[in-house]
Amino acid sequence: IGGVTIARNDVVRDDDPTNNVPDSIFSKLGMQLHRRDKHPIGILKNAIYDYFDSNYAKQFEKFEDLSPIVTTKQVKCSPPSKACIFLSPISVSNFPFVWCQNFDDVLVPADHVSRSLNDTYYVDPQTVLRCHTSAHQAELLREGHRRFLVTGDVYRRDSIDSTHYPVFHQMEGFCVFSPEDWNESGKDSTLYAAEDLKKCLEGLARHLFGGVEMRWVDTYFPFTEPSFELEIYFKEDWLEVLGCGVTEQRILKQSGLENNVAWAFGLGLERLAMVLFDIPDIRLFWSDDERFTSQFKKGELGVKFKPFSKYPPCYKDISFWISESFTENNFCEVVRGIAGDLVEEVKLIDSFTNKKGMTSHCYRIVFRSMERSLTDEEVNDLQSKVRDEVQRKLNVELR
Ligand code: PHE
Repeated sequence: IGGVTIARNDVVRDDDPTNNVPDSIFSKLGMQLHRRDKHPIGILKNAIYDYFDSNYAKQFEKFEDLSPIVTTKQVKCSPPSKACIFLSPISVSNFPFVWCQNFDDVLVPADHVSRSLNDTYYVDPQTVLRCHTSAHQAELLREGHRRFLVTGDVYRRDSIDSTHYPVFHQMEGFCVFSPEDWNESGKDSTLYAAEDLKKCLEGLARHLFGGVEMRWVDTYFPFTEPSFELEIYFKEDWLEVLGCGVTEQRILKQSGLENNVAWAFGLGLERLAMVLFDIPDIRLFWSDDERFTSQFKKGELGVKFKPFSKYPPCYKDISFWISESFTENNFCEVVRGIAGDLVEEVKLIDSFTNKKGMTSHCYRIVFRSMERSLTDEEVNDLQSKVRDEVQRKLNVELR
Protein backbone atom coordinates (compact mmCIF):
# COMPACT_ATOMS: atom_id res chain seq x y z
CA ILE A 1 0.00 0.00 0.00
CA GLY A 2 1.39 3.37 -0.94
CA GLY A 3 3.71 1.72 -3.44
CA VAL A 4 4.27 -1.30 -1.26
CA THR A 5 2.61 -4.50 -2.35
CA ILE A 6 1.29 -6.75 0.32
CA ALA A 7 1.20 -10.47 0.05
CA ARG A 8 -1.78 -12.57 0.92
CA ASN A 9 0.22 -14.44 3.56
CA ASP A 10 1.01 -11.22 5.34
CA VAL A 11 -2.63 -10.55 5.95
CA VAL A 12 -4.71 -13.71 5.94
CA ARG A 13 -4.43 -16.60 8.31
CA ASP A 14 -4.56 -19.61 6.03
CA ASP A 15 -7.07 -21.45 8.11
CA ASP A 16 -9.47 -18.54 8.46
CA PRO A 17 -12.79 -19.82 7.15
CA THR A 18 -14.22 -16.32 6.86
CA ASN A 19 -11.70 -15.21 4.30
CA ASN A 20 -13.34 -14.87 0.87
CA VAL A 21 -10.72 -12.73 -0.85
CA PRO A 22 -9.36 -14.51 -3.93
CA ASP A 23 -5.79 -13.95 -5.13
CA SER A 24 -7.04 -12.01 -8.14
CA ILE A 25 -8.38 -9.39 -5.74
CA PHE A 26 -5.32 -9.42 -3.53
CA SER A 27 -3.20 -8.61 -6.53
CA LYS A 28 -5.12 -5.34 -6.94
CA LEU A 29 -4.26 -4.00 -3.51
CA GLY A 30 -1.68 -1.28 -3.77
CA MET A 31 -2.14 -0.69 -7.53
CA GLN A 32 -3.40 2.83 -6.81
CA LEU A 33 -4.70 3.75 -10.26
CA HIS A 34 -5.97 6.98 -8.71
CA ARG A 35 -2.42 8.14 -8.09
CA ARG A 36 -1.31 7.78 -11.71
CA ASP A 37 -1.40 11.18 -13.37
CA LYS A 38 -1.62 9.74 -16.88
CA HIS A 39 -4.35 7.25 -16.10
CA PRO A 40 -7.98 8.31 -16.68
CA ILE A 41 -8.79 7.71 -12.99
CA GLY A 42 -5.85 9.89 -11.89
CA ILE A 43 -6.64 12.58 -14.47
CA LEU A 44 -10.24 12.71 -13.25
CA LYS A 45 -9.19 12.85 -9.59
CA ASN A 46 -6.89 15.78 -10.35
CA ALA A 47 -9.68 17.61 -12.19
CA ILE A 48 -11.96 17.21 -9.17
CA TYR A 49 -9.16 18.48 -6.92
CA ASP A 50 -8.88 21.54 -9.19
CA TYR A 51 -12.57 22.25 -8.77
CA PHE A 52 -12.38 22.09 -4.97
CA ASP A 53 -9.10 24.02 -4.78
CA SER A 54 -10.40 26.90 -6.84
CA ASN A 55 -13.93 27.09 -5.41
CA TYR A 56 -13.14 26.45 -1.77
CA ALA A 57 -9.78 28.15 -1.40
CA LYS A 58 -8.02 24.86 -0.73
CA GLN A 59 -10.03 24.23 2.43
CA PHE A 60 -10.50 20.58 1.56
CA GLU A 61 -7.72 18.33 2.81
CA LYS A 62 -6.89 15.40 0.58
CA PHE A 63 -6.31 11.80 1.61
CA GLU A 64 -5.51 9.22 -1.02
CA ASP A 65 -3.27 6.75 0.71
CA LEU A 66 -5.47 5.33 3.47
CA SER A 67 -5.33 1.55 3.63
CA PRO A 68 -8.24 -0.27 1.98
CA ILE A 69 -8.10 -2.85 4.77
CA VAL A 70 -10.54 -1.66 7.40
CA THR A 71 -12.45 -3.06 10.34
CA THR A 72 -16.14 -3.73 10.53
CA LYS A 73 -16.43 -2.10 13.91
CA GLN A 74 -14.36 -0.62 16.69
CA VAL A 75 -11.72 -3.21 17.50
CA LYS A 76 -9.03 -3.35 20.09
CA CYS A 77 -6.04 -4.74 18.30
CA SER A 78 -3.89 -6.01 21.03
CA PRO A 79 -2.41 -8.38 20.14
CA PRO A 80 -3.11 -7.39 16.55
CA SER A 81 -4.75 -9.80 14.18
CA LYS A 82 -2.61 -10.51 11.15
CA ALA A 83 -4.50 -8.01 9.02
CA CYS A 84 -4.50 -5.28 11.64
CA ILE A 85 -1.01 -4.02 10.97
CA PHE A 86 -2.11 -2.98 7.50
CA LEU A 87 -4.88 -0.74 8.72
CA SER A 88 -4.50 2.87 7.73
CA PRO A 89 -1.78 4.96 9.35
CA ILE A 90 -4.30 7.01 11.24
CA SER A 91 -5.52 3.93 12.99
CA VAL A 92 -2.06 2.76 13.78
CA SER A 93 -1.34 6.07 15.46
CA ASN A 94 -4.25 5.29 17.76
CA PHE A 95 -2.89 1.90 18.64
CA PRO A 96 -4.10 -0.18 20.41
CA PHE A 97 -7.46 1.20 19.27
CA VAL A 98 -8.34 0.85 15.63
CA TRP A 99 -10.92 3.38 14.68
CA CYS A 100 -11.28 2.69 11.06
CA GLN A 101 -14.69 1.27 10.39
CA ASN A 102 -16.58 0.20 7.35
CA PHE A 103 -19.97 -0.35 8.96
CA ASP A 104 -20.64 0.44 12.62
CA ASP A 105 -19.14 3.90 12.52
CA VAL A 106 -21.37 4.96 9.68
CA LEU A 107 -24.46 3.38 11.27
CA VAL A 108 -24.88 0.53 8.81
CA PRO A 109 -27.50 -1.72 10.52
CA ALA A 110 -26.39 -5.15 11.74
CA ASP A 111 -28.58 -6.92 9.19
CA HIS A 112 -27.76 -4.71 6.18
CA VAL A 113 -26.96 -6.72 3.00
CA SER A 114 -23.68 -4.92 2.49
CA ARG A 115 -22.30 -6.73 5.55
CA SER A 116 -22.83 -10.18 4.07
CA LEU A 117 -20.07 -12.43 2.81
CA ASN A 118 -21.96 -12.36 -0.46
CA ASP A 119 -21.40 -8.63 -0.96
CA THR A 120 -18.19 -7.84 0.87
CA TYR A 121 -14.67 -9.26 0.93
CA TYR A 122 -13.77 -10.39 4.43
CA VAL A 123 -10.11 -10.86 5.34
CA ASP A 124 -11.14 -12.21 8.73
CA PRO A 125 -14.29 -11.85 10.83
CA GLN A 126 -13.48 -8.31 11.88
CA THR A 127 -11.54 -7.05 8.89
CA VAL A 128 -12.82 -6.28 5.41
CA LEU A 129 -11.65 -4.66 2.19
CA ARG A 130 -13.54 -1.36 2.38
CA CYS A 131 -16.66 -1.38 0.24
CA HIS A 132 -16.83 2.41 0.25
CA THR A 133 -14.66 5.37 1.14
CA SER A 134 -17.28 6.29 3.75
CA ALA A 135 -15.35 3.84 5.93
CA HIS A 136 -12.99 6.72 6.69
CA GLN A 137 -15.50 9.46 7.55
CA ALA A 138 -15.63 8.87 11.28
CA GLU A 139 -11.92 8.27 11.84
CA LEU A 140 -11.02 11.49 10.05
CA LEU A 141 -13.61 13.46 12.02
CA ARG A 142 -12.19 12.04 15.23
CA GLU A 143 -8.75 13.13 14.11
CA GLY A 144 -10.08 16.68 13.88
CA HIS A 145 -10.49 17.06 10.12
CA ARG A 146 -13.54 19.05 9.07
CA ARG A 147 -13.43 19.33 5.27
CA PHE A 148 -11.83 16.58 3.29
CA LEU A 149 -11.70 14.44 0.16
CA VAL A 150 -10.78 10.76 0.46
CA THR A 151 -9.89 8.88 -2.71
CA GLY A 152 -9.20 5.18 -2.89
CA ASP A 153 -9.85 1.73 -4.25
CA VAL A 154 -12.98 0.00 -2.94
CA TYR A 155 -14.02 -3.64 -3.21
CA ARG A 156 -17.39 -5.26 -3.80
CA ARG A 157 -18.47 -8.74 -4.79
CA ASP A 158 -20.85 -8.20 -7.66
CA SER A 159 -22.18 -9.38 -11.00
CA ILE A 160 -20.13 -9.11 -14.21
CA ASP A 161 -20.85 -6.63 -16.99
CA SER A 162 -19.35 -3.58 -18.68
CA THR A 163 -19.91 -1.21 -15.72
CA HIS A 164 -19.20 -3.58 -12.80
CA TYR A 165 -15.81 -4.73 -11.60
CA PRO A 166 -15.00 -6.03 -8.10
CA VAL A 167 -12.45 -3.25 -7.56
CA PHE A 168 -13.22 0.35 -8.39
CA HIS A 169 -12.40 3.81 -7.09
CA GLN A 170 -14.39 6.28 -5.09
CA MET A 171 -13.91 9.81 -3.87
CA GLU A 172 -15.59 10.80 -0.65
CA GLY A 173 -16.24 14.43 0.14
CA PHE A 174 -17.08 15.69 3.60
CA CYS A 175 -17.86 19.21 4.77
CA VAL A 176 -18.74 20.36 8.29
CA PHE A 177 -20.60 23.64 8.89
CA SER A 178 -20.90 25.74 12.05
CA PRO A 179 -23.95 27.73 13.22
CA GLU A 180 -22.48 30.97 11.78
CA ASP A 181 -22.67 29.43 8.34
CA TRP A 182 -26.40 28.77 8.28
CA ASN A 183 -27.60 31.44 10.76
CA GLU A 184 -26.84 34.17 8.28
CA SER A 185 -28.89 32.44 5.61
CA GLY A 186 -31.96 32.30 7.82
CA LYS A 187 -32.45 28.68 6.78
CA ASP A 188 -32.77 25.58 8.86
CA SER A 189 -29.39 23.83 9.13
CA THR A 190 -30.37 20.66 7.27
CA LEU A 191 -31.89 22.56 4.38
CA TYR A 192 -28.84 24.81 4.27
CA ALA A 193 -26.48 21.81 4.05
CA ALA A 194 -28.63 20.01 1.47
CA GLU A 195 -28.74 23.09 -0.78
CA ASP A 196 -25.04 23.70 -0.44
CA LEU A 197 -24.32 20.07 -1.28
CA LYS A 198 -26.41 20.08 -4.44
CA LYS A 199 -24.94 23.37 -5.54
CA CYS A 200 -21.42 22.04 -4.99
CA LEU A 201 -22.03 18.83 -6.94
CA GLU A 202 -23.91 20.48 -9.78
CA GLY A 203 -20.96 22.86 -10.09
CA LEU A 204 -18.61 19.90 -10.12
CA ALA A 205 -20.63 18.19 -12.86
CA ARG A 206 -20.50 21.37 -14.96
CA HIS A 207 -16.75 21.68 -14.32
CA LEU A 208 -16.20 18.13 -15.56
CA PHE A 209 -18.75 17.83 -18.33
CA GLY A 210 -19.73 21.30 -19.43
CA GLY A 211 -23.29 20.57 -20.36
CA VAL A 212 -24.70 17.19 -19.48
CA GLU A 213 -28.18 15.99 -18.68
CA MET A 214 -28.50 15.11 -15.02
CA ARG A 215 -31.16 14.45 -12.41
CA TRP A 216 -31.43 14.05 -8.63
CA VAL A 217 -33.11 10.97 -7.22
CA ASP A 218 -34.14 10.58 -3.56
CA THR A 219 -32.64 7.50 -1.94
CA TYR A 220 -31.58 5.95 1.36
CA PHE A 221 -28.17 5.59 3.02
CA PRO A 222 -27.70 4.65 6.68
CA PHE A 223 -25.35 7.58 7.22
CA THR A 224 -27.25 10.46 5.63
CA GLU A 225 -30.74 11.97 5.82
CA PRO A 226 -31.97 13.26 3.45
CA SER A 227 -30.05 11.23 0.85
CA PHE A 228 -29.76 11.70 -2.89
CA GLU A 229 -28.22 10.12 -5.95
CA LEU A 230 -27.06 11.99 -8.98
CA GLU A 231 -27.62 10.33 -12.33
CA ILE A 232 -26.14 11.30 -15.65
CA TYR A 233 -27.60 10.50 -19.06
CA PHE A 234 -25.17 8.20 -20.85
CA LYS A 235 -25.66 5.90 -23.83
CA GLU A 236 -29.43 6.29 -23.79
CA ASP A 237 -29.71 5.48 -20.13
CA TRP A 238 -29.47 7.06 -16.68
CA LEU A 239 -26.23 6.10 -14.94
CA GLU A 240 -25.85 6.54 -11.19
CA VAL A 241 -22.58 8.34 -10.54
CA LEU A 242 -22.73 9.40 -6.92
CA GLY A 243 -24.54 9.11 -3.61
CA CYS A 244 -24.71 11.91 -1.08
CA GLY A 245 -26.70 13.54 1.68
CA VAL A 246 -26.78 15.43 4.94
CA THR A 247 -24.81 13.50 7.54
CA GLU A 248 -26.72 11.76 10.31
CA GLN A 249 -26.36 13.75 13.52
CA ARG A 250 -25.22 10.64 15.44
CA ILE A 251 -22.04 10.48 13.35
CA LEU A 252 -21.14 14.07 14.16
CA LYS A 253 -21.94 13.54 17.82
CA GLN A 254 -19.35 10.75 18.04
CA SER A 255 -16.75 13.46 17.47
CA GLY A 256 -18.27 16.11 19.68
CA LEU A 257 -19.81 17.98 16.76
CA GLU A 258 -23.40 17.92 17.97
CA ASN A 259 -23.83 21.61 17.23
CA ASN A 260 -22.77 21.29 13.61
CA VAL A 261 -24.20 19.96 10.39
CA ALA A 262 -22.33 18.33 7.55
CA TRP A 263 -22.80 16.97 4.09
CA ALA A 264 -21.06 14.01 2.48
CA PHE A 265 -20.84 12.51 -0.96
CA GLY A 266 -19.23 9.42 -2.47
CA LEU A 267 -18.67 9.34 -6.19
CA GLY A 268 -17.65 6.49 -8.45
CA LEU A 269 -14.61 7.51 -10.46
CA GLU A 270 -14.84 4.72 -13.06
CA ARG A 271 -18.45 5.56 -13.88
CA LEU A 272 -17.63 9.23 -14.35
CA ALA A 273 -14.49 8.44 -16.32
CA MET A 274 -16.38 6.07 -18.63
CA VAL A 275 -18.71 8.92 -19.54
CA LEU A 276 -16.00 11.58 -19.79
CA PHE A 277 -13.48 9.59 -21.82
CA ASP A 278 -15.96 7.38 -23.70
CA ILE A 279 -14.49 4.22 -22.22
CA PRO A 280 -16.84 1.36 -23.13
CA ASP A 281 -15.74 -1.34 -20.69
CA ILE A 282 -14.66 -1.01 -17.06
CA ARG A 283 -11.98 -3.71 -17.48
CA LEU A 284 -10.01 -1.33 -19.68
CA PHE A 285 -8.95 0.71 -16.65
CA TRP A 286 -6.78 -2.24 -15.60
CA SER A 287 -5.23 -2.78 -19.01
CA ASP A 288 -1.49 -2.40 -19.57
CA ASP A 289 -2.03 -2.42 -23.32
CA GLU A 290 -0.26 0.57 -24.81
CA ARG A 291 -3.12 1.10 -27.19
CA PHE A 292 -5.10 2.05 -24.09
CA THR A 293 -2.53 3.69 -21.84
CA SER A 294 -0.95 5.87 -24.53
CA GLN A 295 -4.21 7.65 -25.30
CA PHE A 296 -4.29 9.69 -22.08
CA LYS A 297 -2.18 12.63 -20.99
CA LYS A 298 -1.70 14.30 -17.64
CA GLY A 299 -4.16 17.14 -17.14
CA GLU A 300 -6.18 16.36 -20.26
CA LEU A 301 -9.72 15.66 -19.22
CA GLY A 302 -12.25 14.19 -21.59
CA VAL A 303 -10.03 13.15 -24.47
CA LYS A 304 -12.26 10.66 -26.26
CA PHE A 305 -10.94 7.13 -26.21
CA LYS A 306 -10.58 5.56 -29.66
CA PRO A 307 -11.41 1.89 -29.26
CA PHE A 308 -8.94 -0.44 -30.84
CA SER A 309 -10.68 -3.02 -32.94
CA LYS A 310 -12.98 -5.18 -30.88
CA TYR A 311 -12.12 -8.82 -31.00
CA PRO A 312 -14.98 -11.28 -31.47
CA PRO A 313 -16.92 -12.42 -28.41
CA CYS A 314 -17.49 -16.06 -27.67
CA TYR A 315 -20.70 -17.15 -25.95
CA LYS A 316 -20.98 -20.19 -23.71
CA ASP A 317 -24.05 -21.28 -21.79
CA ILE A 318 -24.07 -23.26 -18.59
CA SER A 319 -27.13 -24.71 -16.81
CA PHE A 320 -27.38 -26.22 -13.37
CA TRP A 321 -29.76 -26.98 -10.54
CA ILE A 322 -28.99 -24.53 -7.79
CA SER A 323 -28.86 -25.26 -4.08
CA GLU A 324 -30.23 -23.01 -1.38
CA SER A 325 -26.88 -21.39 -0.72
CA PHE A 326 -26.33 -20.43 -4.36
CA THR A 327 -25.80 -16.75 -5.18
CA GLU A 328 -25.00 -15.07 -8.46
CA ASN A 329 -22.09 -13.21 -6.88
CA ASN A 330 -20.48 -16.50 -5.85
CA PHE A 331 -20.94 -17.83 -9.36
CA CYS A 332 -19.40 -14.71 -10.89
CA GLU A 333 -16.44 -14.98 -8.57
CA VAL A 334 -15.78 -18.53 -9.76
CA VAL A 335 -15.95 -17.41 -13.39
CA ARG A 336 -13.72 -14.43 -12.72
CA GLY A 337 -11.28 -16.63 -10.80
CA ILE A 338 -10.82 -18.81 -13.87
CA ALA A 339 -11.19 -16.41 -16.77
CA GLY A 340 -9.94 -13.19 -15.15
CA ASP A 341 -10.44 -10.21 -17.42
CA LEU A 342 -11.32 -12.48 -20.34
CA VAL A 343 -14.89 -12.57 -19.09
CA GLU A 344 -16.95 -9.64 -20.28
CA GLU A 345 -20.40 -10.50 -19.03
CA VAL A 346 -22.35 -13.10 -17.12
CA LYS A 347 -26.08 -13.03 -17.70
CA LEU A 348 -28.93 -15.13 -16.34
CA ILE A 349 -30.87 -16.08 -19.46
CA ASP A 350 -33.28 -18.68 -18.07
CA SER A 351 -34.62 -19.78 -14.72
CA PHE A 352 -37.40 -22.20 -13.81
CA THR A 353 -38.55 -24.39 -10.94
CA ASN A 354 -39.75 -27.93 -11.58
CA LYS A 355 -42.55 -29.82 -9.86
CA LYS A 356 -40.16 -31.18 -7.27
CA GLY A 357 -39.25 -27.63 -6.34
CA MET A 358 -35.77 -27.73 -7.86
CA THR A 359 -34.64 -24.51 -9.51
CA SER A 360 -32.51 -24.43 -12.62
CA HIS A 361 -30.47 -21.46 -13.82
CA CYS A 362 -28.97 -21.00 -17.22
CA TYR A 363 -26.20 -18.39 -17.53
CA ARG A 364 -24.65 -17.06 -20.69
CA ILE A 365 -20.97 -16.25 -20.28
CA VAL A 366 -19.44 -13.84 -22.76
CA PHE A 367 -15.71 -14.38 -23.19
CA ARG A 368 -13.76 -11.70 -25.01
CA SER A 369 -10.25 -10.38 -24.76
CA MET A 370 -9.64 -6.67 -25.27
CA GLU A 371 -6.22 -7.43 -26.67
CA ARG A 372 -6.46 -10.40 -29.03
CA SER A 373 -8.71 -13.05 -30.57
CA LEU A 374 -9.40 -16.00 -28.31
CA THR A 375 -9.06 -19.45 -29.83
CA ASP A 376 -11.88 -22.00 -29.62
CA GLU A 377 -9.60 -24.30 -27.76
CA GLU A 378 -8.79 -21.73 -25.12
CA VAL A 379 -12.43 -20.81 -24.55
CA ASN A 380 -13.52 -24.45 -24.38
CA ASP A 381 -10.82 -25.02 -21.82
CA LEU A 382 -11.97 -22.06 -19.71
CA GLN A 383 -15.58 -23.21 -19.92
CA SER A 384 -14.73 -26.73 -18.88
CA LYS A 385 -12.79 -25.39 -15.90
CA VAL A 386 -15.78 -23.23 -15.00
CA ARG A 387 -18.01 -26.32 -15.13
CA ASP A 388 -15.70 -28.30 -12.86
CA GLU A 389 -15.18 -25.54 -10.38
CA VAL A 390 -18.83 -24.53 -10.15
CA GLN A 391 -19.71 -28.09 -9.29
CA ARG A 392 -16.92 -28.42 -6.80
CA LYS A 393 -17.33 -25.11 -5.01
CA LEU A 394 -20.95 -24.12 -5.31
CA ASN A 395 -22.77 -27.32 -4.57
CA VAL A 396 -24.84 -27.22 -7.75
CA GLU A 397 -25.77 -30.02 -10.13
CA LEU A 398 -24.82 -29.47 -13.75
CA ARG A 399 -27.47 -30.28 -16.33
N1 PHE B 1 -20.90 5.34 0.52
C1 PHE B 1 -22.00 5.48 -0.43
C2 PHE B 1 -21.85 4.39 -1.50
O1 PHE B 1 -20.78 3.86 -1.66
C3 PHE B 1 -22.02 6.83 -1.08
C4 PHE B 1 -22.26 7.96 -0.13
C5 PHE B 1 -21.22 8.64 0.47
C6 PHE B 1 -23.55 8.33 0.18
C7 PHE B 1 -21.45 9.67 1.34
C8 PHE B 1 -23.82 9.36 1.04
C9 PHE B 1 -22.74 10.02 1.62
O2 PHE B 1 -22.78 4.07 -2.21
